[in-house]
Amino acid sequence: MRTVVIAGGTRGIGGALAARLRHNDRVIALGSADADLTSVRQTAALAAGLPDRIDALVLSAGRFSRRRVETPEGLEQTFAIYVVSRYLLAERLRPALERAPKPVILNLSGTGGIKAGRIHWDDPQLSRRYSMFRATMQGARANDLLAVAFAARPSRVRYVLYNPLLVNSGMHRHLDQPLRALSGAAAAVFGASVDTTAERLAELLDNPPDAPLTAFRRARPVSLDRPEFDPDAAARLDAMVAGYCGGPVTGATYYTG
Ligand SMILES: NC(=O)c1ccc[n+]([C@@H]2O[C@H](COP(=O)([O-])OP(=O)(O)OC[C@H]3O[C@@H](n4cnc5c(N)ncnc54)[C@H](OP(=O)(O)O)[C@@H]3O)[C@@H](O)[C@H]2O)c1
Repeated sequence: MRTVVIAGGTRGIGGALAARLRHNDRVIALGSADADLTSVRQTAALAAGLPDRIDALVLSAGRFSRRRVETPEGLEQTFAIYVVSRYLLAERLRPALERAPKPVILNLSGTGGIKAGRIHWDDPQLSRRYSMFRATMQGARANDLLAVAFAARPSRVRYVLYNPLLVNSGMHRHLDQPLRALSGAAAAVFGASVDTTAERLAELLDNPPDAPLTAFRRARPVSLDRPEFDPDAAARLDAMVAGYCGGPVTGATYYTG
């Protein structure tokens, strides 16, 4: 029986995947009641309590905000949950994943192939010019790069970036009106269902591609030769995000480089 950890597994796409996998796998579905993943300290503590052998890690937690919200640790909220928590979970759980026979990380994000979005190197916390779109798209580009950095280190873990495109998951419920109603209507008409999306994700977990890193927009593979996957930018961002995670947690150093 596989052990599958799903960050963001309490609702939406992650919730549908958890419900589907529970028949055959041991599923650990994590939501905000388990830990606030915008907090580096709580994310690190959560990771420390997870099993020491994990077959699959699904990174699906996210929440987007029209207004800039700063966490008590001084990070912009979108960056904290979409970038830092995913980096921290992947790195902290790497040893547990390496103990599994066919380990995989599945990261639900907006993979490369979309022109929009860049890393704001001079202001990654968007303290000067915040918008939900800038924060979300920066997060998408950051996940592409952090996956490149993860896969650059020797590992048995297969890292899969997956953009589900529009899904009728209910994610719009956190938005203000009228955007909530408009987004909800668009997702209902044009979005894939969470069950269809979960079926595709389950297939990827069962049969991850052989390459250390792959990226998909729904069924379509995305070329890793694109500028969004630049190895130099990946190394730079990896060092930057490690810096945000560098510090003592409950008496221990949780990032060891
Ligand atoms: N839906 C789409 O159209 C779409 C398109 C492209 C990419 N994506 C990607 O898919 C991911 C999942 O989207 P979704 O539509 O399934 O979202 P969703 O329905 O809003 O679910 C979000 C999940 O994240 C968890 N979460 C949110 N804030 C958290 C926090 N501070 N700490 C811990 N957990 C937290 C939620 O847990 P609680 O319920 O317990 O708070 C929930 O399980 C997103 O992150 C996004 O990157 C989605």
